[in-house]
Amino acid sequence: MKKRNRETVAVHGGSEPEHKSGPLATPIYQTSTFAVEDNDEQGRVTHSDKFYTRYGNPTHTAAEKTIAELEGADSALLFASGMGAISSSVLALVRAGDHIVAQADLYGGTLKFLSQWLPKFGVETSFVETIRAEDFERVVRPNTRLMYLESPTNPTLKLVDLRRAAAIAKQHGLTTLIDNTFATPINQRPIEFGVDIVLHSATKYMAGHSDLIAGVAAGSEKLMQQIWETRTVLGGTMDPHAAFLLLRGLKTLVVRVERHNQNALRVAQFLEKHPRVKRVNYPFLPSHPQHALATKQMSGGGGLLSLEVDGTAEETRRFTESLRMFALAPSLGGVDSLVTLPVVTSHSMVSPEERKRMGITDQLVRLAIGIENADDLIADLEQALTVVSPAKEHAHAD
Ligand SMILES: Cc1ncc(COP(=O)(O)O)c(C=O)c1O
Repeated sequence: MKKRNRETVAVHGGSEPEHKSGPLATPIYQTSTFAVEDNDEQGRVTHSDKFYTRYGNPTHTAAEKTIAELEGADSALLFASGMGAISSSVLALVRAGDHIVAQADLYGGTLKFLSQWLPKFGVETSFVETIRAEDFERVVRPNTRLMYLESPTNPTLKLVDLRRAAAIAKQHGLTTLIDNTFATPINQRPIEFGVDIVLHSATKYMAGHSDLIAGVAAGSEKLMQQIWETRTVLGGTMDPHAAFLLLRGLKTLVVRVERHNQNALRVAQFLEKHPRVKRVNYPFLPSHPQHALATKQMSGGGGLLSLEVDGTAEETRRFTESLRMFALAPSLGGVDSLVTLPVVTSHSMVSPEERKRMGITDQLVRLAIGIENADDLIADLEQALTVVSPAKEHAHAD
């Protein structure tokens, strides 16, 4: 059969094309176990999705097939959360004495897992400057097994050169993993650049409605088999009802992400010209320091952006509280627009020195742009920015 386009995959991905009768929506197999006729059959089903739901479930399978095809992977596995997917995948591939190379800017939970949890089991991680993929070469050791990436990053929207990083990994025989949550396979397909395993907090764009927690790993059959074995032991499997909701969200992934891209670019362009805004971080703005790389490895800029308010810390807090259409909440990727102050949420545990290095100031605001009308979002930002006084009045205020 001709290769299907992504819009079709999103809608039909997990269903069998020859299936002409029966329910159109994939049923929720809300069951922990599956009954069989006899013990011969019992033996046969142990490696199928009709044995015991911690091992797999037909509702999972439908969502897993859709995501694998969207990412260009052989197969995919669902997890109860993004952190479940990340921790189980890494644990599947390392043993005591191994070493990992990772970029310095990572989701807080991942950073904690690599820097504080894995050392308890004898696995060490070296971190390199995110935007300098060539630095991975310097820190590779004979016992290095994995390269861990995330692009674009939270909340400063830095990028990693995927082709370059994956080439270094191949040269040294490392398995590469990337957290592709922010980009989604609609904007970036890391496997095409040579990355081995793609991870997601499917809580975000994949599910898309801020109503469930979900994770996914996708890659080759061989690697997914190793990760599947780890998932069955560690037990981070997704509930079938959540898999049903994820599958429903996936059907509109392409149209949602296209709207997120359009809205975020419009908002970024508006903010960049606003006198109360010092800086806007968005990969598809020509002013982004890695704009050329962004347009080379991504087909859209995504729905996330951050801005630095040209005002005091107090004014910045008031700005975020004055927005009417943006809910003050962590997370991203849903249809509703959200606003958050990274110093209060995602990076509250990071030391002030480390925050400074990462470019996370008290004035940095992260916006997760939803799929509402862009003019309405811009009008809301405009009214909220009036709480910030003109630059000269607060020049020495903090
Ligand atoms: C980039 C990224 N990766 C992973 C995670 C963790 O995902 P979850 O909350 O689904 O465990 C998050 C959550 O915010 C995230 O933003």
